[in-house]
Amino acid sequence: MLDRIERIRLSALEALGAVKNLQELENVRVRFLARKGEIAEQFDRLKDVPPEERPPLGKALNELRTSVQSAFEQKKAGLENANPREQASIDFTLPGHKQWMGSKHPITQTLDEIKRIFTRMGFTVATGPEIEDDYHNFEALNFPPDHPARDMQDTFFISDKILLRTHTSPVQIRVMEQQKPPVRVIVPGRCYRNEAISARSYCLFHQVEGLYVDVGVTFSELKGTLVAFAKQLYGADTRYRFRPSYFPFTEPSAEMDISCFICAGKGCRVCKQTGWLEILGCGMVDPNVYRFVGYDPEKYAGYAFGMGIERMAMLRYGIDDIRMFFDNDIRFLKQF
Ligand code: DAH
Repeated sequence: MLDRIERIRLSALEALGAVKNLQELENVRVRFLARKGEIAEQFDRLKDVPPEERPPLGKALNELRTSVQSAFEQKKAGLENANPREQASIDFTLPGHKQWMGSKHPITQTLDEIKRIFTRMGFTVATGPEIEDDYHNFEALNFPPDHPARDMQDTFFISDKILLRTHTSPVQIRVMEQQKPPVRVIVPGRCYRNEAISARSYCLFHQVEGLYVDVGVTFSELKGTLVAFAKQLYGADTRYRFRPSYFPFTEPSAEMDISCFICAGKGCRVCKQTGWLEILGCGMVDPNVYRFVGYDPEKYAGYAFGMGIERMAMLRYGIDDIRMFFDNDIRFLKQF
């Protein structure tokens, strides 16, 4: 019978060890400690044992009951403490939960900075649809019907006349359709082009457009505004130059270069040894464009400009592959 008592002790402790909740604990109590449980059953058997053998067995049984009872109490206290509602105090030694902080995408940060600079100069922010029609994206911007930019290779067409905008310039038309001069807006937004995807070009990118139309606006105001902008974004000692260029919707047109801020104009890999970085296109709004929106070209003059944001962010942060912006790899984004 002593063997039997030892076996009960082992199986009771094993059962208690496996208990995961109060319900399972109750089952163990019923099996071993209750009035009809295995331990009580052994006590019953004592009366069949010859009287002289009873004392050591009784003692062993009492010890069995005490040890199982105390293991039971201990387990019970542990389970009740683990329940947060019954937990009386906080364990300050537990390791904490790490709080993950999000951060702004580098493109958003660059856009925010550009918006901040222009709104302080009196520009307001306008937006327009990413799904555009041919009229606003091309025709009203003075693109001839056979202009290569309309080609299927550049433009994602949804139908014959509906497309994903290839630049933010159509919002110039939408703003002028809606309001009379003076107009002074910038237009941040997404654009799409059906390009071969590489480190330098992607099918999706961002631009910021600018438009200022009023009586007597001049090219020197355009230059002054863009120079002030470039010096705020790239530093006060940034040098600049304007080169003649061509856009259907501006005449004359120009591109603006700034001195490379990586090598201060001495020539490096980023500026391809030229010392200059092209940052935007601009020009005086072509009188043909005014005719599409019902402005009098004899009365009003204005300028427009447009810049690619990915390129600016790549220069700003030293990123050499445009696809990084769109992979949403947390290891990349965490750095900004
Ligand atoms: N829309 C042109 C592009 O996507 C950029 C541009 C150039 C916009 C000159 C302008 C501008 O407003 O005046 O390449």
